[in-house]
Formats: sequence, C-alpha cells, structure tokens
Amino acid sequence: MMDDLALIAAPAETVVSPLPRRTFAIISHPDAGKTTLTEKLLLFGGAIHEAGMVKARRERRNTRSDWMAIERQRGISVTSSVMTFTWRDVVFNLLDTPGHQDFSEDTYRTLTAVDAAVMVIDAARGIEAQTLKLFEVCRLRDIPIVTFINKIDREGLDPFALLDEIAGTLALDVTPLLWPVGMGGLFRGCWDIAGNRPIGQQAPDGGPAQPVDIPPEQLTELREAIELAGAGYPSFDETAFRAGHLTPVLFGSALKDYGVAELLAMLADCAPAPSVQRAEPHPVAADDPAVTGFVFKVQANMDPNHRDRIAFTRICSGRFQRGMKLFHVRAGKTMAVQAPIFFFARDRSLAEEAYPGDIIGIPNHGSLRVGDTLTEGEMLRFTGIPSFAPEILRRIVLADPMRAKQLRRALEDLAEEGVAQIFRPMLGADWIVGVVGALQLDVLAARIDAEYKIPIRFETAPYATARWVNCDDARRLKEFVDANQASMGLDRDDSPVFLARDSWSLRFATERWPEIRFSATHEQA
Ligand code: G4P
Repeated sequence: MMDDLALIAAPAETVVSPLPRRTFAIISHPDAGKTTLTEKLLLFGGAIHEAGMVKARRERRNTRSDWMAIERQRGISVTSSVMTFTWRDVVFNLLDTPGHQDFSEDTYRTLTAVDAAVMVIDAARGIEAQTLKLFEVCRLRDIPIVTFINKIDREGLDPFALLDEIAGTLALDVTPLLWPVGMGGLFRGCWDIAGNRPIGQQAPDGGPAQPVDIPPEQLTELREAIELAGAGYPSFDETAFRAGHLTPVLFGSALKDYGVAELLAMLADCAPAPSVQRAEPHPVAADDPAVTGFVFKVQANMDPNHRDRIAFTRICSGRFQRGMKLFHVRAGKTMAVQAPIFFFARDRSLAEEAYPGDIIGIPNHGSLRVGDTLTEGEMLRFTGIPSFAPEILRRIVLADPMRAKQLRRALEDLAEEGVAQIFRPMLGADWIVGVVGALQLDVLAARIDAEYKIPIRFETAPYATARWVNCDDARRLKEFVDANQASMGLDRDDSPVFLARDSWSLRFATERWPEIRFSATHEQA
C-alpha cells in the first residue's frame, strides 16, 4: 500500500522519485480541537473513511485514571503516534504529541523529529498554558509554526485581539491568510485574503466548497477589517516563516470543515521539506545518499505477551529499504532491519522503503534507545535529543523486597521509553526516579503494576533536583564525587549526577567547585 502512496511512477531509468514529505506535529491546549482536526486531516488524506475516533480519544482524556486505563491498552496510542496520509501528491507524516496536560520528555522528543508544527488555538480562549509550553519547545528548535484558530463557528474573541495576543505573547510576527466571516451566530464562512474571495464549507470527500452568502452590510465590515489587517500585519514571508519568526494564521472550524483544506495546502506549499539535521561531526542533509536516522521515541510492551519494543526512527537521509543492514553507532554493531513498520491511522504495515522525513518503527529487544543514531557505517551522531533534569524526585518503595531484580528490569525498560529517569544513589540501595511532570509518576506506577505485576509506592526523596556533572579534569571530577558521596547518583548510562537537596546546596556546590560543570540537560555520550 505504501508503495502506491509514496512513489510516483518510475521513469525509464528506474530512478524512483519519492513524493515530497511534510513531517509535522499538532500542538495545542486540551480541548482546542486537536483530535477533531487530526481526524479531518486523515479524512482528507483518505487514511480513514468515517469520523469516530474523536469520542474514544475524548474519553481517554476525562480523568487521569481513565487516561491511564486506556493508555495501558498499548495498541491505541501506538497506532496513533504516527499517522501517514497522502494529499495532492504530498505525503504527510503527522506525529502525535501526548494529549495530557503535563509536559513530558516524550513530547519534547517527538518535536525533535518534525519539520513544522500546527498550533491549534480555540477562538474563544486564545493562547492557553499548554499552547505556550509547547510553543516554547518549538522555539528552542526554530520549528516553523502554522496557526489554526479553531471553532469560529462559535462565539469567539475578536480576530484582532487573537492575532495581537499571539504576536505579543509569543513574540512572533503574524500574517492572517484566512479571515473569519463573522463568528458564532453571524458566522458565514472564511475569507481568503490573498485570493480576495470567500471560502465555504469543504467536506473532506474532495467535493467542491459550498458557496458563501454574505449580507452586504457584513461584507462592508469584513472589507474594512481586512484592509485594517493588511495595514497592521506584515505580509507573508516564507523565509521568516521557515526560520520560525512568522506564523501564518488561518481562522477555521475543524468540526464544520472550514479552512482545513487551506491548512493542508499551506503545509504542502510552504512548510519545509525534510531538511538538514544537526549531527556530529557534520550535519546531515536530506539528499545525502547514505541512509541515516535517529530514534526519538521508544515504546515498550506494545504486546504484553512479548517483551518487544518499537523504536520510532526518523529517516534523515538516503533511501531506506527493508532488510538493510544499518550500523548502530552507539553499540558499534550492525543490525539487519528485517521488519520495519509504517504506521497509518489505525493500521501498521511492513515498510518496504522509506524516505527522509518518514518515521519507521523498528522492533527490537532493547538494543535501541532514544537518541541512537543509525547509519550505513559512518561514525555519526545526531544531536539535540537531550534528557531534562527532573524537577520531581522520589524514592521507590517496593511492597515485596524479593522483587528487586524484576523492579530493576521494569525501571530500565520504562526509563528507556522516557516515562521517567532513574538514578542509583551511590550510598543506599533504593532507586530514585526523576520526572519532569507529576503525571509521569502516576503513569510509571500504573505501568509497573500492570505490565510487570510489581506493586510500588513513592516516598519523598531528600532531593529537590538533579544535575549531570562533568569536568575536563577527570581527577578533579573524582574528588568532587568522593567529597559529595551522599548526594551522588548514577544515571542509567552510569553518568554521575549530583542530587541536590535544595537550590541552596546546588548553588553552594557550583560556587565551591567552579571547574565542575552542572548541566540541567544531558545528551547521550
Ligand atoms: P482536543 O483533542 O484538542 O482535546 O479537542 P477535541 O478535538 O476533542 O475537541 C474538543 C471539543 O471541541 C469537542 O467537543 C469537539 O467536538 C469540539 N470542537 C472541535 N473543533 C470544533 C470546531 O471547529 N467548532 C466547534 N463548535 N467545536 C469544535 P465535545 O467534547 O463534544 O463537546 P463540548 O466540549 O462542546 O462539550
């Protein structure tokens, strides 16, 4: 199936050209309409044929425990974590970011694998907390953002107020491309500013858009508003957009099918194709002939009967083919990739070939980790996929001390997935877990219980935060470690970590030991 979707007919020389790729994610605050928009995009792309995912997903959101119960049925979240569809000869890879409130490392890492993001904002609410957090992550990597202001079929805030809020809060230039023709009771449709024409409802089945009927008085008001917008906001500049300095804004309604086709067209026409990826010793361009990729997410226990894992791998260059032998740079070993997986809306299939920007799932038994690089033999490492210093640290207490070995296994598995970070204190036998958001603790305990049958609970640990420590002078580092044994731990790579009791002791240590570097983020060595 993918062959049909992904390739146009091969010319006589049998050089196969892949269709262009757009690899992106949707960021939003819960309830803004991410699920509805995702569903519409999949309908446009023919990847699903009827609506119906929305309800199931909404239920998963209702309470924390509901969310976990459904999340435990791994199948659901896995098949929806990458969704591939084709529209107008462009292959779109939509990467799902977790829908819950807490920021997690998983979210960040998913955003390391995209070339663009769609920011969905509820027209009645403007920018909300989660939108802001996710936006900041995008900004760290200069990811270009298309803004979709959703639900204009309902009463919403004034369009100028919404645009000014985006510009002011996010320090971004905004260029409105689609303007709402009324909202709520007065809603008639959208206005295509560049094309100077109304745009009506357009169902995903590809039929023509419905005509828009605008009463003369409303049309006069609309023209005035658009004139004002033209004077007040910069015109669209593709270079500024691609650099992450300007966001094009489309007002629309995912539920009622307004503006969705225009959003796809915007992504197809202006969003960047898979581009250069940061790596050492040199960056990798998408048109480099040799296959390279990196793992940005690992999901364990998709099938509870087999302890398998899927390493979600972004292809960065070359033309990947099934059965290829790839060099696993960190392990220094070659691995044959026999059964790579492609993800569709609800299905997966064997990936016979994949191109830059595509995501393949590589089943493995623990050899691949987040941050790992695969090449055709070159010693290369993709960079910028860090771990974050946890803000919440807890000691794990095991109900049955005889299960210590199994607990270790469970913790290592889940740490690899990025559910939590684990630290072994140099003194004492208990594990310390560290998370960035509190929900990660609930997920960790629930999964250790459900998937490994090990009941655990958390106790307050005497630590407030963690810092990876490093020093050019190995002897000095050892002196530091020896002098601070009660506050030292090792992470799962055996990198030394300073577990600070409070911000005061962290400051004290940094002042006392100026040669030691204390880092809040850590990249695989
Ligand atoms: P999320 O994934 O971002 O959390 O949002 P989701 O798509 O589940 O949408 C949240 C609610 O907003 C849903 O309503 C959905 O139907 C509605 N919605 C999404 N897009 C639009 C739109 O363009 N217009 C309107 N009017 N509504 C939209 P719900 O949960 O069924 O009901 P309720 O929130 O109205 O109670």
